[in-house]
Amino acid sequence: MSAGFPLATLGLAGRVAIVTGAASGIGRAAAEILAAAGARVVACDVDTAGLAAAGAALRGGGHTTEIVDIGDLAACESLVARSLAREGRLDILLNVAAVLRRLDLDGIDEAEWQRLMRVNLRSQYFLCRAAGEAMKPRRWGRIVNFSSGAGVVGGFVGATAYAVTKAGTITLTKSFAKELGPHGITVNTLSPGSIDTPMQRTGMTPETLAAARARIPLGRMGTALECARGAVFLASDLASYITGHVLAVDGGFLMR
Ligand SMILES: NC(=O)c1ccc[n+]([C@@H]2O[C@H](COP(=O)([O-])OP(=O)(O)OC[C@H]3O[C@@H](n4cnc5c(N)ncnc54)[C@H](O)[C@@H]3O)[C@@H](O)[C@H]2O)c1
Repeated sequence: MSAGFPLATLGLAGRVAIVTGAASGIGRAAAEILAAAGARVVACDVDTAGLAAAGAALRGGGHTTEIVDIGDLAACESLVARSLAREGRLDILLNVAAVLRRLDLDGIDEAEWQRLMRVNLRSQYFLCRAAGEAMKPRRWGRIVNFSSGAGVVGGFVGATAYAVTKAGTITLTKSFAKELGPHGITVNTLSPGSIDTPMQRTGMTPETLAAARARIPLGRMGTALECARGAVFLASDLASYITGHVLAVDGGFLMR
């Protein structure tokens, strides 16, 4: 995949980047741009086959793939520790992975609620904390946490619990931006709109997809590449004075 812009200006060569959710969609596209820009990517996911395919598509050398369930707290912390030990540094964390299930309000039992909180939100907190510690010695770091328009305006019907996790991401990000800013580490939120990935199509019908498109000023869904570019920008030298920000890559959907 070509990033579609000159990569040399990003200052990513030699950086080490953990990308969660790298087997699919936006995470995979972000991992590909980072690799093409010269970063060493630690690509993580629970999807074994998807991750193998994604890892094989990364340009350049020095990348690793890690099967990690970010719903498991110990696995999050050991991922950062292992990457640091192996690479000797950690510069970038893209917290992309998440799960979405569209369920009626009655369909969310406590186990499902806890699963969404663990995978979508708790993982981001503990990965940010561990990555921040790993980045502090070099006084340089970039963390990008993925939220959603649902975290700002509420979820569509069936996505209430998911939306709660995504609202939490925004507050978590701002708080970490304050905690880690004095150490030269920026922490930002990427808020995708309707991006054409497997997750976007979860539980959607042609009618609901058309209705979603109709709410977008640009009149179409975005691609994973278009969305990933925003995350890579926030992870680059070009975004050196941006922190605590919510960057919406959504065709104008939120327009706040
Ligand atoms: N696609 C959209 O329209 C859209 C809209 C708003 C927000 N988002 C957000 O963007 C991010 C990327 O979404 P996407 O559309 O690329 O989704 P996707 O479903 O294509 O990819 C998500 C990846 O996360 C992985 N994953 C899920 N649970 C995991 C776990 N426990 N441990 C490790 N990996 C796990 C999946 O295996 C998958 O590879 C997510 O945070 C999502 O909430 C997407």
